[in-house]
Amino acid sequence: MTQLQRITVRTSKQYDILMKKGLLADAAEHISAVLPPEGRRCCVVCDETVCALYGQKQQPLMQGLVSAGYSVFEYIFKPGEDSKTIASAEDLCRFLSQNRFSRHDFIIALGGGVCGDLAGFAASIYMRGIPFVQIPTTLLAMADSSVGGKTGVNTEAGKNMIGTFWQPELVLMDPDVLDTLEERHLLNGLAEIIKAGFIGDGSIFDAIGDNLCDAILKAIHVKRKIIEEDEREAGERRLLNLGHTIGHAIEKCSSYTVPHGYAVMTGMYLTSLAADDLGWSEKPVSGLIKTVMDAFAYPVYLDYSAKELSAAAACDKKRDAETIIITYPDKPGHCTMKSLPISELEDFISNGLAKAAEH
Ligand SMILES: NC(=O)c1ccc[n+]([C@@H]2O[C@H](COP(=O)([O-])OP(=O)(O)OC[C@H]3O[C@@H](n4cnc5c(N)ncnc54)[C@H](O)[C@@H]3O)[C@@H](O)[C@H]2O)c1
Repeated sequence: MTQLQRITVRTSKQYDILMKKGLLADAAEHISAVLPPEGRRCCVVCDETVCALYGQKQQPLMQGLVSAGYSVFEYIFKPGEDSKTIASAEDLCRFLSQNRFSRHDFIIALGGGVCGDLAGFAASIYMRGIPFVQIPTTLLAMADSSVGGKTGVNTEAGKNMIGTFWQPELVLMDPDVLDTLEERHLLNGLAEIIKAGFIGDGSIFDAIGDNLCDAILKAIHVKRKIIEEDEREAGERRLLNLGHTIGHAIEKCSSYTVPHGYAVMTGMYLTSLAADDLGWSEKPVSGLIKTVMDAFAYPVYLDYSAKELSAAAACDKKRDAETIIITYPDKPGHCTMKSLPISELEDFISNGLAKAAEH
């Protein structure tokens, strides 16, 4: 990936996603093209780990921003999901106002999905919205969360319960940063790439083995096509929730000790087992999902009962008063959605758990 790759996303705001090895060193040049430096402040938001690796003053990104002429500020937070709160967003907004940020200025989210969601959310509410640039540094953030404009923070009621749709001005991806990412975070992100394979592009599975950058770009294309049709999740965008209804329930039942991507893999598997059994699928996909899970040694989480999982899933944002939307693969590389009465959710999950126990 030595040549610059570009994907243009045409949502309410049009923006480019650029990917190239070593891109961090050229980031300021690309940002200057959309947000010229003259009189502009930028606030680089990152967690302590990412700051130590890529956000120090002497490192290429920060040096480039200063040389380009930006007034550069840095806001650093503690790594992890616990930082994705309304209190953190408020603290970040306070930092911006203390440093006299105006609507002319902007935020750079340098980090994983937590950073992108938090910084993007703050960008969307500060002064009713200021520009932001995503520089994702995890596989999950590259393949999924930095694209599409969903921002948010968690509340006691659940993950991402407060949030906005706020599109970035630009997304810059430097695959070199993945070299420092721990294996478990790589597998976490890989789950979202695998999910994209089942939603809309079976060729992703070959790309994962051959060329990870290619797999990331293919996963982005699957998401891009869907969000261009349905930016605010009124319909088709729910396809991207494959595995997430049961996946979020597993995360919640485990008090968030099971990582998101791992939970989504089990969620995809249990959903497709139940859908195959109920005859919803044109061609059964559950066997293929299990083969992929085994290939990457993802565990299947069967520790929670259908009652516990359905109670947790019933709090999901994908439900209305009486029904919940289930996204399931109906043939390899294709998914569809069905509205399920909440009263039938426990039986549906129970069916998936029983079939998984047989294998
Ligand atoms: N907005 C969306 O569309 C969307 C989609 C999927 C997930 N998400 C959200 O994304 C979040 C999870 O994101 P995540 O998995 O990236 O977690 P994360 O942001 O917490 O990053 C995981 C860990 O990796 C570290 N890290 C980041 N980049 C690194 C690097 N290059 N080298 C070494 N360490 C690095 C971080 O410090 C952190 O400890 C969740 O909050 C989830 O809700 C959002």
